[in-house]
Amino acid sequence: MSDFEPFYDVSRTYEDNYAKGPFGAFAQALTQASAPERGSAPAENESASADNEGASNTGTGAAAFMGQPVNLAFGIPAGPLLNSRFTTAAFRMGFDLATYKTVRSRAWGCNPFPNVLAVHPKSADGSLTPGSAELDEGVLADTNYELPISISNSFGVPSQDPDVWQPDMRAAIVAAGPGQVLVPSFQGSRVEGMSEAEYIADHATTARLVKETGARLMVMNTSCPNEGHNRLLCHDPLLVGRITEAVKNEIGDTPLMIKLAFIPSDGDLELMVRSTVGRGTVQGFSTINTISARLVDKDGNQALPGAGRDRSGVCGNAIRGAGLDMVRRLAAIRERLGLDFEINGVGGVVSPDDYAAYKAAGADSVMSATGAMWDAELAHKIKAQLRA
Ligand SMILES: Cc1cc2nc3c(=O)[nH]c(=O)nc-3n(C[C@H](O)[C@H](O)[C@H](O)COP(=O)(O)O)c2cc1C
Repeated sequence: MSDFEPFYDVSRTYEDNYAKGPFGAFAQALTQASAPERGSAPAENESASADNEGASNTGTGAAAFMGQPVNLAFGIPAGPLLNSRFTTAAFRMGFDLATYKTVRSRAWGCNPFPNVLAVHPKSADGSLTPGSAELDEGVLADTNYELPISISNSFGVPSQDPDVWQPDMRAAIVAAGPGQVLVPSFQGSRVEGMSEAEYIADHATTARLVKETGARLMVMNTSCPNEGHNRLLCHDPLLVGRITEAVKNEIGDTPLMIKLAFIPSDGDLELMVRSTVGRGTVQGFSTINTISARLVDKDGNQALPGAGRDRSGVCGNAIRGAGLDMVRRLAAIRERLGLDFEINGVGGVVSPDDYAAYKAAGADSVMSATGAMWDAELAHKIKAQLRA
């Protein structure tokens, strides 16, 4: 794999990627194609690509994402698309949903380099199961990237200042081609000494800043640490409910999707649905985010340098089973409660068959971060399989 260059180059710093990326096939797409890509609409929605001209994206195709018509409800979730150059390249490579990496209400630094390592679970199929002892005992992590790809990412959700990301997000939105949608991702920031009311208000402020860019929908990341390392915001459904109420007051009818980490208990998951969708503040869930594991090098020592980095989030092939499980359980809750919300399936999609598995599990839309990083042709391959 030595001559292969992912569009986010894991051998460079985040700052270098932000300034000079994307790389590889995405860089070529930016320089070669001056117009949004044409003719790649799948058979299940043939009309959308031809009919929808311009950024207004007013097509009437069968596929949709949070109320927006799309050629195929497949794309890249928050993470490897750092700015409008990355999202525009993704559109040109046929990813009809391109998520702008999570932004904050203020500038926020990135964890020290390296931010990505290859991860090698012990099981024969390379999977990691939530709750398994291996996650605490240690999973081997190094720079030996292998297919099917599993990695760990440790960025700390860096953000530019709104003065930088707002105009860039606006440019990213208008660069979407026919039947394509820019998906903004945001989260609240917890800073030292902040009260809960201020933490809630920070989410609402950030949502307003996103809305000001012309966003037609947005995804709020709740799979970030809230209280301590292993306590994520999404582990507190009632607080998420209060936050989404404040966000809804700010963004009105703009559709809101919540990004969830893996939630093991059906009771907690149902409470999450009831305290958000049930109160009319949320229209969809995107799941899953990474699964936390202790990462060790070949000698059993901490793999990532620095305090507080003994554990890190694993993504890619290893977590597909967990992602599919969350989607199935969410779909079952949707059915049982008779509620209407969208499910965006994420986690370990590295092939067209994985896309199909998520759809079969009940996902309305599907996204791939790690799989797309290691295969820039993934959207084209899925569309070709759907046409076949
Ligand atoms: C390089 C990288 C950076 C990421 N950054 C974010 C982020 O800023 N916000 C977020 O909600 N998820 C982030 N994620 C998580 C992904 O959106 C996704 O939930 C996770 O990687 C599982 O999908 P995958 O197996 O297709 O990679 C990141 C993932 C990667 C690989």
